[in-house]
Amino acid sequence: MSPAQPSAELLEAAQRPFPDAKAMPPSVYTSTAFLAREIETIFSKEWMCVGRSSSLAQPGDYLTYELAGQPVMVLRDQAGALRAFSNVCLHRMSTLIEGTGNKRAIVCPYHAWTYGLDGRLRGAPFMTATTGFCKDDYVLPSIRCEEWLGWIYITLDRERPSVSTTLAPVADMVSDYGMENYVECFRETHVWDTNWKVLAENFMESYHLPVCHADTVGGHSKLSEMECPPGLAAFNYHWITKEASLPIGNAHPSNTRLEGRWRKTTALLALYPSHLITLTPGYFWYLSLHPKGTGQVAMIFGGGLSPEFMADPRADEYVATLKTLLDDVNVEDRGCTEKVFRGLNAATARAGHLSYLERPIYDFMHYLADRTTGFDRSFALAAE
Ligand code: FES
Ligand SMILES: [Fe+2]
Repeated sequence: MSPAQPSAELLEAAQRPFPDAKAMPPSVYTSTAFLAREIETIFSKEWMCVGRSSSLAQPGDYLTYELAGQPVMVLRDQAGALRAFSNVCLHRMSTLIEGTGNKRAIVCPYHAWTYGLDGRLRGAPFMTATTGFCKDDYVLPSIRCEEWLGWIYITLDRERPSVSTTLAPVADMVSDYGMENYVECFRETHVWDTNWKVLAENFMESYHLPVCHADTVGGHSKLSEMECPPGLAAFNYHWITKEASLPIGNAHPSNTRLEGRWRKTTALLALYPSHLITLTPGYFWYLSLHPKGTGQVAMIFGGGLSPEFMADPRADEYVATLKTLLDDVNVEDRGCTEKVFRGLNAATARAGHLSYLERPIYDFMHYLADRTTGFDRSFALAAE
Protein backbone atom coordinates (compact mmCIF):
# COMPACT_ATOMS: atom_id res chain seq x y z
CA MET A 1 0.00 0.00 0.00
CA SER A 2 1.41 3.41 -0.93
CA PRO A 3 0.91 6.27 1.57
CA ALA A 4 -1.64 7.68 -0.89
CA GLN A 5 -4.51 5.44 0.21
CA PRO A 6 -4.26 6.00 3.99
CA SER A 7 -3.63 9.71 3.37
CA ALA A 8 -6.76 10.00 1.24
CA GLU A 9 -8.82 8.08 3.81
CA LEU A 10 -7.44 10.21 6.63
CA LEU A 11 -8.19 13.42 4.76
CA GLU A 12 -11.76 12.29 4.18
CA ALA A 13 -12.21 11.44 7.89
CA ALA A 14 -10.65 14.75 9.01
CA GLN A 15 -13.14 16.72 6.89
CA ARG A 16 -16.19 15.43 8.74
CA PRO A 17 -17.77 17.91 11.21
CA PHE A 18 -17.37 16.92 14.87
CA PRO A 19 -21.04 15.89 15.46
CA ASP A 20 -20.65 13.34 12.63
CA ALA A 21 -16.97 12.48 13.23
CA LYS A 22 -15.61 8.98 13.03
CA ALA A 23 -12.40 7.37 14.29
CA MET A 24 -9.36 7.35 11.98
CA PRO A 25 -9.38 4.68 9.24
CA PRO A 26 -7.59 1.37 9.91
CA SER A 27 -5.02 1.97 7.15
CA VAL A 28 -3.31 4.84 9.01
CA TYR A 29 -2.46 2.39 11.78
CA THR A 30 -1.45 -0.61 9.69
CA SER A 31 0.30 0.81 6.59
CA THR A 32 4.11 0.73 6.65
CA ALA A 33 4.18 3.39 3.93
CA PHE A 34 2.09 5.70 6.12
CA LEU A 35 4.42 5.00 9.06
CA ALA A 36 7.37 6.09 6.88
CA ARG A 37 5.45 9.30 6.19
CA GLU A 38 4.91 9.83 9.93
CA ILE A 39 8.63 9.36 10.61
CA GLU A 40 9.50 11.86 7.87
CA THR A 41 6.90 14.53 8.66
CA ILE A 42 6.44 14.11 12.43
CA PHE A 43 9.19 12.27 14.32
CA SER A 44 12.08 13.76 12.29
CA LYS A 45 10.69 17.23 12.87
CA GLU A 46 8.87 17.58 16.19
CA TRP A 47 10.20 18.13 19.70
CA MET A 48 10.19 14.78 21.50
CA CYS A 49 10.18 14.43 25.28
CA VAL A 50 12.85 12.08 26.64
CA GLY A 51 12.15 12.51 30.36
CA ARG A 52 12.59 14.85 33.31
CA SER A 53 15.55 17.12 33.79
CA SER A 54 15.71 16.07 37.45
CA SER A 55 16.55 12.51 36.34
CA LEU A 56 19.83 13.86 34.88
CA ALA A 57 20.78 15.81 38.00
CA GLN A 58 24.58 15.28 38.17
CA PRO A 59 27.33 15.98 35.61
CA GLY A 60 27.79 12.79 33.60
CA ASP A 61 24.19 11.55 34.09
CA TYR A 62 22.94 10.38 30.70
CA LEU A 63 20.12 8.71 28.85
CA THR A 64 19.93 7.32 25.32
CA TYR A 65 17.10 7.49 22.82
CA GLU A 66 16.35 6.37 19.28
CA LEU A 67 14.75 9.34 17.49
CA ALA A 68 13.38 8.68 14.00
CA GLY A 69 16.05 5.97 13.55
CA GLN A 70 18.87 8.18 14.88
CA PRO A 71 20.74 7.04 18.03
CA VAL A 72 20.94 10.00 20.42
CA MET A 73 22.47 10.56 23.87
CA VAL A 74 21.34 13.27 26.28
CA LEU A 75 23.61 14.17 29.19
CA ARG A 76 24.42 16.74 31.86
CA ASP A 77 27.84 18.23 31.06
CA GLN A 78 30.53 19.37 33.52
CA ALA A 79 29.15 22.91 33.50
CA GLY A 80 25.68 21.61 34.47
CA ALA A 81 24.07 22.16 31.06
CA LEU A 82 21.87 19.60 29.33
CA ARG A 83 23.39 18.55 25.98
CA ALA A 84 22.31 16.11 23.27
CA PHE A 85 24.67 14.46 20.80
CA SER A 86 24.68 11.84 18.12
CA ASN A 87 25.35 8.50 19.83
CA VAL A 88 27.53 7.28 16.94
CA CYS A 89 31.31 6.97 17.12
CA LEU A 90 33.37 9.10 14.74
CA HIS A 91 35.83 6.26 14.05
CA ARG A 92 34.02 3.32 12.43
CA MET A 93 30.56 4.36 13.48
CA SER A 94 29.65 1.99 16.31
CA THR A 95 26.93 3.24 18.63
CA LEU A 96 28.57 4.49 21.81
CA ILE A 97 26.47 4.10 24.96
CA GLU A 98 23.22 2.42 25.96
CA GLY A 99 20.43 2.80 28.51
CA THR A 100 20.86 5.31 31.32
CA GLY A 101 23.58 5.93 33.92
CA ASN A 102 26.51 8.18 34.79
CA LYS A 103 29.84 8.46 32.97
CA ARG A 104 32.85 10.76 33.32
CA ALA A 105 33.67 10.20 29.65
CA ILE A 106 32.11 8.44 26.65
CA VAL A 107 34.29 5.46 25.72
CA CYS A 108 33.48 3.65 22.50
CA PRO A 109 33.02 -0.10 23.16
CA TYR A 110 34.83 -1.00 19.90
CA HIS A 111 38.34 0.60 19.94
CA ALA A 112 38.04 2.97 22.92
CA TRP A 113 38.00 6.33 21.20
CA THR A 114 37.05 8.50 24.15
CA TYR A 115 34.90 11.64 24.18
CA GLY A 116 34.38 14.27 26.86
CA LEU A 117 30.93 15.34 28.08
CA ASP A 118 31.28 18.28 25.67
CA GLY A 119 31.34 15.85 22.71
CA ARG A 120 35.03 16.48 21.90
CA LEU A 121 37.35 13.58 21.18
CA ARG A 122 39.79 13.38 24.11
CA GLY A 123 41.82 10.33 23.19
CA ALA A 124 42.24 7.60 20.56
CA PRO A 125 44.67 4.73 21.15
CA PHE A 126 47.45 3.85 18.63
CA MET A 127 46.70 6.74 16.25
CA THR A 128 50.07 8.52 16.47
CA ALA A 129 51.37 6.95 13.23
CA THR A 130 48.32 8.23 11.34
CA THR A 131 49.80 11.58 10.48
CA GLY A 132 46.62 12.87 8.86
CA PHE A 133 44.66 12.34 12.10
CA CYS A 134 44.08 15.26 14.46
CA LYS A 135 41.77 14.61 17.37
CA ASP A 136 40.66 18.23 17.49
CA ASP A 137 38.86 17.62 14.19
CA TYR A 138 36.48 15.16 15.87
CA VAL A 139 33.43 16.46 17.75
CA LEU A 140 30.17 14.52 18.13
CA PRO A 141 27.40 16.27 16.17
CA SER A 142 25.12 18.08 18.61
CA ILE A 143 21.35 17.81 18.57
CA ARG A 144 18.95 20.51 19.76
CA CYS A 145 17.90 19.99 23.36
CA GLU A 146 15.69 22.24 25.49
CA GLU A 147 14.23 22.15 28.97
CA TRP A 148 10.64 23.26 29.54
CA LEU A 149 8.81 23.05 32.91
CA GLY A 150 11.24 20.37 34.03
CA TRP A 151 10.90 18.26 30.85
CA ILE A 152 13.74 17.49 28.42
CA TYR A 153 12.89 17.79 24.73
CA ILE A 154 15.06 17.03 21.70
CA THR A 155 14.54 17.55 17.98
CA LEU A 156 16.41 16.73 14.78
CA ASP A 157 14.96 19.86 13.14
CA ARG A 158 17.38 22.81 13.18
CA GLU A 159 14.63 25.30 12.32
CA ARG A 160 11.80 24.34 14.66
CA PRO A 161 10.59 27.14 16.99
CA SER A 162 11.57 26.58 20.64
CA VAL A 163 9.49 24.33 22.90
CA SER A 164 8.64 27.20 25.22
CA THR A 165 7.16 29.15 22.29
CA THR A 166 5.19 26.21 20.93
CA LEU A 167 3.83 25.17 24.31
CA ALA A 168 3.34 28.61 25.89
CA PRO A 169 -0.47 28.15 26.08
CA VAL A 170 0.03 24.92 28.09
CA ALA A 171 2.36 26.69 30.52
CA ASP A 172 -0.32 29.36 31.09
CA MET A 173 -3.08 26.83 31.52
CA VAL A 174 -1.39 24.76 34.24
CA SER A 175 0.84 27.39 35.86
CA ASP A 176 -0.85 27.07 39.28
CA TYR A 177 0.16 23.40 39.49
CA GLY A 178 3.86 24.37 39.40
CA MET A 179 4.67 21.33 37.23
CA GLU A 180 8.33 22.38 36.93
CA ASN A 181 8.80 21.45 40.61
CA TYR A 182 7.24 17.99 40.48
CA VAL A 183 9.85 15.31 41.20
CA GLU A 184 10.25 12.17 39.12
CA CYS A 185 10.42 9.10 41.37
CA PHE A 186 10.38 6.34 38.75
CA ARG A 187 11.18 6.03 35.04
CA GLU A 188 10.90 2.89 32.91
CA THR A 189 10.91 1.95 29.24
CA HIS A 190 8.51 -0.57 27.70
CA VAL A 191 7.39 -1.88 24.33
CA TRP A 192 3.73 -2.76 23.75
CA ASP A 193 2.22 -4.55 20.77
CA THR A 194 0.08 -1.77 19.37
CA ASN A 195 0.38 1.23 17.08
CA TRP A 196 1.67 4.41 18.73
CA LYS A 197 -1.50 6.32 17.81
CA VAL A 198 -3.78 3.74 19.46
CA LEU A 199 -1.97 4.29 22.75
CA ALA A 200 -1.89 8.07 22.30
CA GLU A 201 -5.63 8.12 21.61
CA ASN A 202 -6.29 5.86 24.58
CA PHE A 203 -4.66 8.49 26.76
CA MET A 204 -6.65 11.32 25.16
CA GLU A 205 -10.08 10.04 26.11
CA SER A 206 -11.42 9.16 29.52
CA TYR A 207 -14.55 7.57 27.97
CA HIS A 208 -12.91 4.17 28.61
CA LEU A 209 -12.25 4.73 32.32
CA PRO A 210 -15.40 3.15 33.81
CA VAL A 211 -15.10 0.07 31.58
CA CYS A 212 -11.45 -0.70 30.84
CA HIS A 213 -10.44 0.42 34.34
CA ALA A 214 -13.44 -0.97 36.25
CA ASP A 215 -11.09 -2.83 38.64
CA THR A 216 -8.84 0.16 39.44
CA VAL A 217 -9.58 3.86 38.88
CA GLY A 218 -12.81 3.50 36.89
CA GLY A 219 -15.19 4.21 39.75
CA HIS A 220 -13.56 7.45 40.84
CA SER A 221 -14.20 9.77 37.91
CA LYS A 222 -17.57 11.12 36.79
CA LEU A 223 -17.87 11.18 33.00
CA SER A 224 -20.81 13.58 33.33
CA GLU A 225 -18.46 16.18 34.86
CA MET A 226 -15.69 15.76 32.32
CA GLU A 227 -14.70 18.76 30.20
CA CYS A 228 -13.29 18.18 26.72
CA PRO A 229 -12.67 21.59 25.11
CA PRO A 230 -11.41 21.86 21.52
CA GLY A 231 -7.65 21.48 21.29
CA LEU A 232 -5.06 24.03 20.22
CA ALA A 233 -2.43 23.82 17.49
CA ALA A 234 0.28 21.93 19.41
CA PHE A 235 -1.76 19.96 21.94
CA ASN A 236 -5.15 18.83 23.20
CA TYR A 237 -6.35 18.44 26.76
CA HIS A 238 -9.23 17.60 29.01
CA TRP A 239 -10.01 17.97 32.67
CA ILE A 240 -11.42 15.46 35.09
CA THR A 241 -12.62 16.26 38.57
CA LYS A 242 -12.39 13.31 40.86
CA GLU A 243 -12.64 12.20 44.39
CA ALA A 244 -9.14 10.98 45.02
CA SER A 245 -8.57 7.25 44.69
CA LEU A 246 -5.25 7.90 46.43
CA PRO A 247 -4.45 10.28 49.32
CA ILE A 248 -2.12 12.10 46.91
CA GLY A 249 -4.82 12.67 44.26
CA ASN A 250 -6.01 15.94 45.81
CA ALA A 251 -3.84 18.92 46.78
CA HIS A 252 -1.67 18.54 49.89
CA PRO A 253 -2.87 20.72 52.83
CA SER A 254 0.35 22.74 52.50
CA ASN A 255 -0.30 23.45 48.79
CA THR A 256 -1.39 27.09 48.65
CA ARG A 257 -1.14 27.44 44.85
CA LEU A 258 -4.35 25.63 43.93
CA GLU A 259 -7.74 26.85 45.09
CA GLY A 260 -11.35 25.63 45.11
CA ARG A 261 -12.15 22.87 42.62
CA TRP A 262 -8.60 23.02 41.25
CA ARG A 263 -7.52 21.20 44.40
CA LYS A 264 -9.15 18.05 43.02
CA THR A 265 -8.88 18.62 39.27
CA THR A 266 -6.65 16.53 37.03
CA ALA A 267 -5.28 17.86 33.73
CA LEU A 268 -4.82 15.34 30.91
CA LEU A 269 -2.37 16.93 28.47
CA ALA A 270 -1.52 15.42 25.07
CA LEU A 271 1.40 17.41 23.67
CA TYR A 272 1.83 16.49 20.02
CA PRO A 273 2.91 14.17 18.78
CA SER A 274 3.13 11.84 21.75
CA HIS A 275 4.00 13.34 25.13
CA LEU A 276 1.09 12.45 27.38
CA ILE A 277 0.92 13.90 30.89
CA THR A 278 -1.51 13.25 33.73
CA LEU A 279 -1.06 16.18 36.07
CA THR A 280 -2.89 16.00 39.40
CA PRO A 281 -2.59 18.36 42.36
CA GLY A 282 -0.46 15.79 44.21
CA TYR A 283 1.30 13.63 41.64
CA PHE A 284 2.02 13.25 37.93
CA TRP A 285 2.73 10.49 35.51
CA TYR A 286 3.55 10.51 31.83
CA LEU A 287 4.21 8.53 28.69
CA SER A 288 6.38 9.56 25.77
CA LEU A 289 5.75 7.37 22.72
CA HIS A 290 7.76 6.55 19.63
CA PRO A 291 6.68 4.07 16.94
CA LYS A 292 8.63 0.83 16.58
CA GLY A 293 7.11 -0.40 13.35
CA THR A 294 3.36 -0.15 12.79
CA GLY A 295 2.56 -2.82 15.40
CA GLN A 296 4.79 -1.83 18.31
CA VAL A 297 5.26 1.30 20.38
CA ALA A 298 8.31 2.15 22.49
CA MET A 299 7.44 4.20 25.53
CA ILE A 300 9.04 6.04 28.38
CA PHE A 301 6.80 5.75 31.45
CA GLY A 302 7.58 7.88 34.48
CA GLY A 303 5.98 9.70 37.36
CA GLY A 304 6.36 11.17 40.81
CA LEU A 305 5.05 13.61 43.37
CA SER A 306 4.35 17.31 43.81
CA PRO A 307 6.91 19.08 46.03
CA GLU A 308 4.48 19.16 49.00
CA PHE A 309 4.02 15.40 48.94
CA MET A 310 7.78 14.90 48.41
CA ALA A 311 8.34 16.84 51.64
CA ASP A 312 5.75 14.76 53.50
CA PRO A 313 7.20 12.14 55.90
CA ARG A 314 5.11 9.48 54.12
CA ALA A 315 6.52 10.30 50.64
CA ASP A 316 8.08 6.84 50.11
CA GLU A 317 4.84 5.12 50.97
CA TYR A 318 2.89 7.44 48.63
CA VAL A 319 5.26 6.70 45.75
CA ALA A 320 5.04 2.93 46.31
CA THR A 321 1.21 3.05 46.36
CA LEU A 322 1.12 5.23 43.23
CA LYS A 323 3.48 2.94 41.33
CA THR A 324 1.46 -0.16 42.24
CA LEU A 325 -1.77 1.52 41.11
CA LEU A 326 -0.26 2.76 37.82
CA ASP A 327 1.21 -0.67 37.08
CA ASP A 328 -2.29 -2.16 37.46
CA VAL A 329 -3.80 0.61 35.29
CA ASN A 330 -1.15 -0.01 32.63
CA VAL A 331 -1.99 -3.71 32.49
CA GLU A 332 -5.59 -2.70 31.73
CA ASP A 333 -4.58 -0.11 29.11
CA ARG A 334 -2.17 -2.55 27.50
CA GLY A 335 -4.95 -5.13 27.20
CA CYS A 336 -7.35 -2.63 25.60
CA THR A 337 -4.84 -1.04 23.20
CA GLU A 338 -3.36 -4.35 22.03
CA LYS A 339 -6.92 -5.62 21.37
CA VAL A 340 -7.59 -2.52 19.26
CA PHE A 341 -4.51 -3.18 17.16
CA ARG A 342 -5.58 -6.79 16.56
CA GLY A 343 -9.00 -5.51 15.53
CA LEU A 344 -7.56 -2.85 13.23
CA ASN A 345 -5.86 -5.57 11.20
CA ALA A 346 -9.12 -7.45 10.57
CA ALA A 347 -10.65 -7.38 7.08
CA THR A 348 -13.90 -6.27 8.71
CA ALA A 349 -12.35 -3.31 10.58
CA ARG A 350 -14.37 -0.10 9.99
CA ALA A 351 -14.10 3.19 11.88
CA GLY A 352 -17.20 4.08 13.90
CA HIS A 353 -18.56 7.37 15.25
CA LEU A 354 -16.82 9.19 18.12
CA SER A 355 -18.52 10.21 21.38
CA TYR A 356 -18.38 13.89 22.39
CA LEU A 357 -16.13 12.61 25.19
CA GLU A 358 -13.57 11.71 22.50
CA ARG A 359 -13.16 15.29 21.29
CA PRO A 360 -9.35 15.25 21.80
CA ILE A 361 -9.11 12.31 19.38
CA TYR A 362 -10.82 14.41 16.73
CA ASP A 363 -8.26 17.18 17.30
CA PHE A 364 -5.41 14.66 17.14
CA MET A 365 -6.75 13.41 13.80
CA HIS A 366 -6.60 16.98 12.48
CA TYR A 367 -3.01 17.37 13.73
CA LEU A 368 -2.02 14.10 12.05
CA ALA A 369 -3.76 15.03 8.80
CA ASP A 370 -2.10 18.45 8.85
CA ARG A 371 1.37 16.95 9.20
CA THR A 372 1.01 13.99 6.84
CA THR A 373 -1.44 15.10 4.14
CA GLY A 374 -1.40 18.91 4.14
CA PHE A 375 -4.92 19.14 5.63
CA ASP A 376 -5.63 22.79 6.48
CA ARG A 377 -6.30 22.79 10.21
CA SER A 378 -6.66 26.53 10.54
CA PHE A 379 -9.59 26.30 8.15
CA ALA A 380 -11.15 23.45 10.14
CA LEU A 381 -10.72 25.26 13.48
CA ALA A 382 -12.09 28.52 12.10
CA ALA A 383 -15.15 26.73 10.75
CA GLU A 384 -16.37 25.74 14.23
S1 FES B 1 34.18 2.47 16.13
FE1 FES B 1 34.38 3.63 17.94
S2 FES B 1 36.46 3.45 18.44
FE2 FES B 1 36.28 2.33 16.60
FE1 LIG C 1 -6.63 4.06 30.42
